[in-house]
Amino acid sequence: LDGVDLVVVGAGLYGLTVAQQAAERARARVLVIDVRGHIGGNAYSSMDERTGAEIHRYGAHLFHTSNPRVWDYVNRFTSFTRYTHRVYTTHRGEVYPLPINLGTINQFFHAHYTPRQAKELIAGQAGELAGSDPSNLNDKGVSLIGRPLYEAFIKNYTAKQWDTDPADLPAGIIKRLPVRFDYDNRYFKDTWEGLPVDGYTAWMRRMAADPLIRVQLDTDFFDASQPVNRDAVVGRVPVVYTGPVDRYFDYALGDLKWRTVDFDEVRYPEADHYGCPVMNFADPDTPYTRAIEFKNFNPERRSSQNPGETVVWRESSRAAGRGDEPYYPVNTAADRALYHRYAAKAGEEPGVVFGGRLGTYAYYDMHQVINSALVAYDKRIHPMLTRTDGQ
Ligand code: FDA
Repeated sequence: LDGVDLVVVGAGLYGLTVAQQAAERARARVLVIDVRGHIGGNAYSSMDERTGAEIHRYGAHLFHTSNPRVWDYVNRFTSFTRYTHRVYTTHRGEVYPLPINLGTINQFFHAHYTPRQAKELIAGQAGELAGSDPSNLNDKGVSLIGRPLYEAFIKNYTAKQWDTDPADLPAGIIKRLPVRFDYDNRYFKDTWEGLPVDGYTAWMRRMAADPLIRVQLDTDFFDASQPVNRDAVVGRVPVVYTGPVDRYFDYALGDLKWRTVDFDEVRYPEADHYGCPVMNFADPDTPYTRAIEFKNFNPERRSSQNPGETVVWRESSRAAGRGDEPYYPVNTAADRALYHRYAAKAGEEPGVVFGGRLGTYAYYDMHQVINSALVAYDKRIHPMLTRTDGQ
């Protein structure tokens, strides 16, 4: 550990943001380790040579933010394409635009409602359960957008996402179901969005390019046989830990629950299979939730893509075991309570900052994780690296 001022566990966006800031602002010598064989964490992507598609290896990643500090920060390391995210869904042999908007409504009801008429219609249908307190997800969905739209577009999709009958899911899973009473089907409402011009991995490499940053891959922080492990490091060198918080404490209080996603790859001998990057499947007879056609994220690269083949990943979701990739926190009240007990222990670890989605048991989008890393760097990590009292 000679010559290391900060150890960062995890080369995802949280860890790389902290490493970059520490090198630049405190001139700290940073060692970043990751158990995987690549940097970038879940935002990692690589090129599929056969089709010329950039495959997001841990599921589709679209960058979007309204936070000027984050936007300025990420633009130091990459430019962004003009990609605008739009999603479609297949229901009973028809394709509809999402999120539910006036186009979806008019197509579904074979109508030409004006925004006011559509609003009145949906309010009337949502009133079906007026006065009752929704006890499960179905009732909640109906009370938000009415039975016809809920049952067509939300019910079975959510059942597949949770692998559970929505009648058995808590109402609290959905807070709101946005319905737009115009034809705007831009998925994100943020000020800025786009995809990194030369791909996610090039972006992440530039974040780690400072000569003060050393990246060591295929290195598990809990493998006592390698030198940079928890027992050897904690208390001696400041640590930023972005792995699972329960794993850090050897699951002493029990396992935090996550959902994982299985990806099933399909190749088609044609230029374009869906005509869009993301197609959801709203019905129960299609076992997967959605299909991602990666070529279509980068239409600006058409001339270097193979017109004779396209690659699609179909996603299905299930409960994660310890050996699976943890993707979405289940976040029941019991999970939150367990997390708070872990967070209390984490607060007592000497010189260790827990961060990122795994370290704080939270679903974060990329812009949120970058923002939380910048804030944690300002408030907690920079002072640790620059203190002059010798402690
Ligand atoms: P991340 O998981 O990326 O990094 C943590 C790193 O720690 C990993 O590389 C891991 O290998 C390493 N690690 C863990 N344990 C270790 C150990 N014991 N020793 C060493 N290393 C260890 N966001 C968005 O803005 N737009 C989007 O479209 C999407 N889409 C999306 C789809 C899916 C399916 C998921 C699950 C998530 C998204 N996201 C997203 C969210 C995005 O993935 C997320 O914000 C960032 O990846 C979080 O970065 P972190 O650094 O927190 O974790």
